[in-house]
Amino acid sequence: MDALKIESEEWKNLENVLEEMIPCYDDINSRMTFGMDKKWRKILAYESNNKNIVVEIGSGPGTLAMLLKAKKIFCVDPSEKMHKIAMERIKQAKISLEKFEFITSPAEKIPIDDNVADFVCSAFAFRDFYDKKKALTEIYRILKNDGKFMILDIAKHNNIYGTLIYNYIKHIAPIITGSDAPKMLAKTYNAFGTLEYYADIMKEIGFRSVKIKFLNFRTIFILSAEK
Ligand SMILES: C[S@@+](CC[C@H](N)C(=O)[O-])C[C@H]1O[C@@H](n2cnc3c(N)ncnc32)[C@H](O)[C@@H]1O
Repeated sequence: MDALKIESEEWKNLENVLEEMIPCYDDINSRMTFGMDKKWRKILAYESNNKNIVVEIGSGPGTLAMLLKAKKIFCVDPSEKMHKIAMERIKQAKISLEKFEFITSPAEKIPIDDNVADFVCSAFAFRDFYDKKKALTEIYRILKNDGKFMILDIAKHNNIYGTLIYNYIKHIAPIITGSDAPKMLAKTYNAFGTLEYYADIMKEIGFRSVKIKFLNFRTIFILSAEK
């Protein structure tokens, strides 16, 4: 499969699986990563400190959004259901909803003006975008000059190590989590490109200071860049 695009039927299936996962989303994440996902999200959240406008793309049920510290936070996700849950969870956590704005839209067409975001971030969602080049072009457009962008996701390797990660997601994670949802995640992992591939596209779009950082024995990455 093309590392940049997920076909529309496949993407709709993926969205259904993600929506079905909502009630146990955090639990599945936590079991799959042995609780380390929280620590990784905090690295992105730390970047949001003292920022005016932050945009999270693929905000889902708000797991990262709740940790963001900016004055204004735009949560962008194509799923209305995800936004509803995120709002409930933010309220339950007694975080002011006022600073949040929920935008139901895909990363490939973000209804936000040019040059407004101080920081754009995405956690465990980039892999799901159906047209990653288009999404990266949109993210570049909404970023202010000198604004920062960070992606956190599972690292793809086109070697035996990648095969091990794929097998972990497809065969072991369903046992650990007691859910079949990771099997769909294995599909998106398969269709995912390498970090070097996306880093090159980002440079082509105009991003500068494109940096790759691996975490957890190179199974997780943070890709950061500036406009
Ligand atoms: C696994 S959840 C990530 C949730 C959250 N960011 C976190 O910290 O765990 C992935 C999210 O990406 C969203 N998504 C899928 N395709 C997308 C797209 N094309 N543009 C933006 N978000 C997308 C899904 O709706 C889902 O809410």
